[in-house]
Amino acid sequence: MRNLDNLSNFIQLVEVSPRDGLQNEKSLVPIATKVDLINCLSAAGFRHIEVGSFVSPKRVPHMADTEAVFAAIDKKPGVTYSCLVPNEQGMQRAIGCGVKTVAVFISASEGFSKANLNCTIAESLRRIDPVMTLAKQHAIAVRGYVSCVLGCPFDGAVAPAQVSAVAGELAAMGCYEISLGDTIGVGYPEQVKSMLAVVTEKIAVQKLAIHCHDTFGRAVDNILAAMELGVGVIDASVAGIGGCPYAKSATGNVATEKVLAMLAAKGLAHGVDVAKAAAAGQFIASALGRVVNP
Ligand code: HMG
Ligand code: MG
Repeated sequence: MRNLDNLSNFIQLVEVSPRDGLQNEKSLVPIATKVDLINCLSAAGFRHIEVGSFVSPKRVPHMADTEAVFAAIDKKPGVTYSCLVPNEQGMQRAIGCGVKTVAVFISASEGFSKANLNCTIAESLRRIDPVMTLAKQHAIAVRGYVSCVLGCPFDGAVAPAQVSAVAGELAAMGCYEISLGDTIGVGYPEQVKSMLAVVTEKIAVQKLAIHCHDTFGRAVDNILAAMELGVGVIDASVAGIGGCPYAKSATGNVATEKVLAMLAAKGLAHGVDVAKAAAAGQFIASALGRVVNP
């Protein structure tokens, strides 16, 4: 078992607030606000920012403007600006606006797959096939998400072997990184470790990221547990905004500010300007009429 002494002392943050943070808001957020948020995040030093998603606008109206947002943001050299795509139609939209990194997403549980993607896990994997073919043709990098790795709002417990099986499929299809999502924030640190022990039998830990929602306040402890097993990529969202419209119990993502505080306490580098990240959090929280309380 690895501990923090063995960890590479640089942790990469993937800032998901413009997508996961805003997809579930009650009212639509103006394009200009999204663009300002993303530009604040790149100015704060985030090297991977999830800009939006090319999903059905009927299912997730908040992301219907992703083309316009992507076109309007500053594209800083060295920053990855990624977008979620669920199928070939989404991939064609991504190609149409020059996106260079996309993320595909599947569930480790059948219940959430049906609710989120309106299909079985097997069918969701089939839909990713043409996405990967187009990705190769257009030199687009593909990240993969697996949702419900520690529990499903419909099916309950999810076996680590099932997480490993679907994550392994994504890796075999060519995803450069697999982000393991505790979509509803139900996991505990020991569970994170048991799940990762099984997943890393199939996928090198260097290819894994952790994506925790903070429903019960355990996200930072769960992230630390993943880091202790060597995971060096953390998804987070400034001001802790976020949630999934198809998992009612998915509250906010872990707040980036909390993760940065934990990394500082451990003496780990991350390349982000903490004050500017906090300012980005303040900006979006006030745009949404919230108080930041990370
Ligand atoms: P479907 O419901 O199975 O239906 O869609 P379809 O494929 O037959 O298409 C139905 C309609 O959607 C058609 O339009 C299509 O053209 C359109 P109509 O003929 O009715 O006018 N359509 C699209 N339009 C634009 N872009 C597209 C697209 N695809 C179809 N790409 C689909 C399947 C997956 C598209 C749909 O169910 C959907 O969009 N679901 C939303 C999924 C979503 O965005 N969930 C939230 C993000 S995932 C998440 O938050 C978890 C994560 O954070 C990790 C974690 O926390 O665990 C990543
Ligand atoms: Mg999420």
